[in-house]
Amino acid sequence: MAKNNKNKAPEAVSLITLVDKTSPISERYRTIRTNIQFASSTNHQIKTLVITSSGPGEGKSTTAANLAVVFANSGQRVLLVDADMRKPTVHKTFLLSNSVGLSNVLGTELNFNEAVQPSAVPNLYVMTSGPKAQNPSELLGSIRTDKLMQELRENYDFIIFDMPPVVAVTDAQIVASKVDGTMLVVRENVTRKDSLQKARELLTMVNANVLGAVFNGSTDENDQGYYYYGTGE
Ligand SMILES: Nc1ncnc2c1ncn2[C@@H]1O[C@H](COP(=O)(O)OP(=O)(O)OP(=O)(O)O)[C@@H](O)[C@H]1O
Ligand SMILES: [Mg+2]
Repeated sequence: MAKNNKNKAPEAVSLITLVDKTSPISERYRTIRTNIQFASSTNHQIKTLVITSSGPGEGKSTTAANLAVVFANSGQRVLLVDADMRKPTVHKTFLLSNSVGLSNVLGTELNFNEAVQPSAVPNLYVMTSGPKAQNPSELLGSIRTDKLMQELRENYDFIIFDMPPVVAVTDAQIVASKVDGTMLVVRENVTRKDSLQKARELLTMVNANVLGAVFNGSTDENDQGYYYYGTGE
């Protein structure tokens, strides 16, 4: 199993949903897709989704990328945005250039269209993080993010934001407050219970709609890999 090494450059993640569509793990991603679709109603459509977790290396990017693939497989026009401008990996996973991306759209007058690349997966488009920005939190908190969010909603059926950990920096909180739903990734034997609690508190504080948790790396065959918090609705 890959270890989280702080000194190592972040790497591409495994696209199991492309490599082995029939594996139980791919089936789990499809189950998560179904659950998100069911959580979406006409009154509260879930069209924009944040994927985050309490700490580093818990599988946020793995979950975001594989979910994006299964949503695209269902025929929806999907955009995966690498909103982790601190440790971006989406360009590596999808073998794309990262010379233009989110940081350009938020930091300059660049039109969002010019920062979107088609991926090798039909219906799946990618906005990579773009060149390193000095101030990711300020960029994500700016009015330009609201404008971008609106433009993306008008141009795609489903938009997934791959974010940094919620406890470390405010980026995920900021974007979670602007999207329809947020999923927390929990990695077996890595995620600490108190950190997960803290992550939930931080998201609740900004009125994020926390849909539930994705269990990444569970060895339990019966575990569907998805759990609703039960918001009492
Ligand atoms: N269930 C798993 N089993 C084995 N390795 C995994 C699993 N999930 C993720 N990994 C590996 O662990 C590393 C971290 O995963 P990933 O990049 O998805 O996490 P992350 O939460 O996005 O990390 P970061 O906080 O750095 O953004 C990667 O090398 C990935 O391939
Ligand atoms: Mg990541």
